[in-house]
Amino acid sequence: MRRPILAANWKMHKTVAESVAFAKDFAPRVAGARDVDVVIAPPFTALAALGGALAGSAVALAAQNVYFEEQGAFTGEIAPGMLRELGCGYAIIGHSERRTVFGESSELVARKAEALLGHGIRPIVCVGESLAEREAGRTLDVIRRQLAESLARIPAGRAAEVVVAYEPIWAIGTGRTATPAMAQEVHAQVRAELRARFAEAGDAIRIQYGGSVKPDNVRELMAQPDIDGALVGGASLDPDGFARIVRFDAR
Ligand code: PGA
Repeated sequence: MRRPILAANWKMHKTVAESVAFAKDFAPRVAGARDVDVVIAPPFTALAALGGALAGSAVALAAQNVYFEEQGAFTGEIAPGMLRELGCGYAIIGHSERRTVFGESSELVARKAEALLGHGIRPIVCVGESLAEREAGRTLDVIRRQLAESLARIPAGRAAEVVVAYEPIWAIGTGRTATPAMAQEVHAQVRAELRARFAEAGDAIRIQYGGSVKPDNVRELMAQPDIDGALVGGASLDPDGFARIVRFDAR
């Protein structure tokens, strides 16, 4: 049984003060949510303070990006060891905004995944098709290729530590969610690819859905057999909204 994982991707939102205020409001709201992993990825500048504010809670800290080198002349970049020092348990890599706005390739994502595992940080590897690719009937080809290239450096023995996030680009920040059936169809393919690559370990990998996840659609998405979590942007900026997403199965 895969443990659900609900992750907040704050993108370029929230100052240090706003992040700490969020933590104070949010942590008590999810204190009773025991059977899920809860993760928040603030901007780099807020990682240390948010980590401090969440100390003693079960909420894990994540980075939104990383560089794969240990150290060196890489102006503007952050190394995995620096993230580990701040208590990051996860890092999002290959987000579509990194791929499209900053031109990151799947080969680069693969190096980042390998470097993160080397420091005991779980990579959240994002994949997803554009609207043009979906309309051209290329969704599964695109996803397969992104997975093969992005996971190329993960040995099967470490595969269970990886999280995959399927985020159709046309559903990100648009209010246009994939229907649960559409999402499940791709998630089932992702699962098949993971099994083909990692054998049984592929069954342990959690696959998140991302793209306009909200408190009122999360439950139906999470009811799908191959949807093991959500990566949430806009709706995670509000403590009450994200807490309701985390508690998706509360009756
Ligand atoms: P959204 O973003 O929830 O605002 O659509 C999701 C993401 O990009 O991770």
